Amino acid sequence: MTKAARITIPDLQRRKVEGQRITMLTAYDYPFARIVDDAGIDMILVGDSLGIVVQGHGTTLPVTMDQMIYHTEIVSRAAKHAVVIGDMPFMSFQVSDDEAVRNAGRFLQEGGAAAVKLESPASMLSRVAAIAAADIPVMAHLGLSPQSVHKMGGYKVQGRDAGSAQRLLDSAKRAEDAGAFALLIEGVPMTVARDITRAVSIPTIGIGAGAACDGQVIVLHDLLGLFDEFTPKFIKRYVNLREIISTAVTQYKDEVMDGQFPSERESY
Ligand code: KIV
Repeated sequence: MTKAARITIPDLQRRKVEGQRITMLTAYDYPFARIVDDAGIDMILVGDSLGIVVQGHGTTLPVTMDQMIYHTEIVSRAAKHAVVIGDMPFMSFQVSDDEAVRNAGRFLQEGGAAAVKLESPASMLSRVAAIAAADIPVMAHLGLSPQSVHKMGGYKVQGRDAGSAQRLLDSAKRAEDAGAFALLIEGVPMTVARDITRAVSIPTIGIGAGAACDGQVIVLHDLLGLFDEFTPKFIKRYVNLREIISTAVTQYKDEVMDGQFPSERESY
């Protein structure tokens, strides 16, 4: 069997031109990153969503740069095919363009990533430009911005009225002009994501943004049914791994308790 070649950033740009869809999933550790990579997913996002689905926090805000580098380095070691993208955590880019570039560089230098993503409301577009100017591929995240949870008063769909939809479209064009190689569009009406996708020449990757985007991403733990504390409308659970794992763990416990495990077969 021939091994799939490593995907590059220019490959993703070509996909948009050729009208071929792009797949992206999150991963945070070696075994899951290997499974995702072997399945031929194009991009692996080491998302700051790990604060919620791995660390058990209520938001992504407590996640630090050092934690992100730790997980990114592990995922990069597993990924032989996919583009690995490090997600810039809260306060790693908000203070200044200089800090944003320095921290983005750490993802490539220490984490082995090929690109970074940052939540990029209009006020943060200079960070996108500064990172791109340092030749670090950068994906701009527009729409619902989980790091702005307190400002939004919850995880709220964005761009519902004509004014905010227009502002999102303007930000998307400005992010492209600033040098973003792709846009991640989260939690916006499908018509708004469609208009953005038509208006820009870089790929759009949607989450809760409908089918018109050039690609899709969801959080791996949601797809696998490993996280059930809240389930937004846009999640599709492909398997209930929590239930499968729970059955196996309970069976092990019962077999130890009643002396069935280990049997002679598992003994020396
Ligand atoms: O942190 C994350 O996992 C994200 C999602 C939008 C995919 O940013």
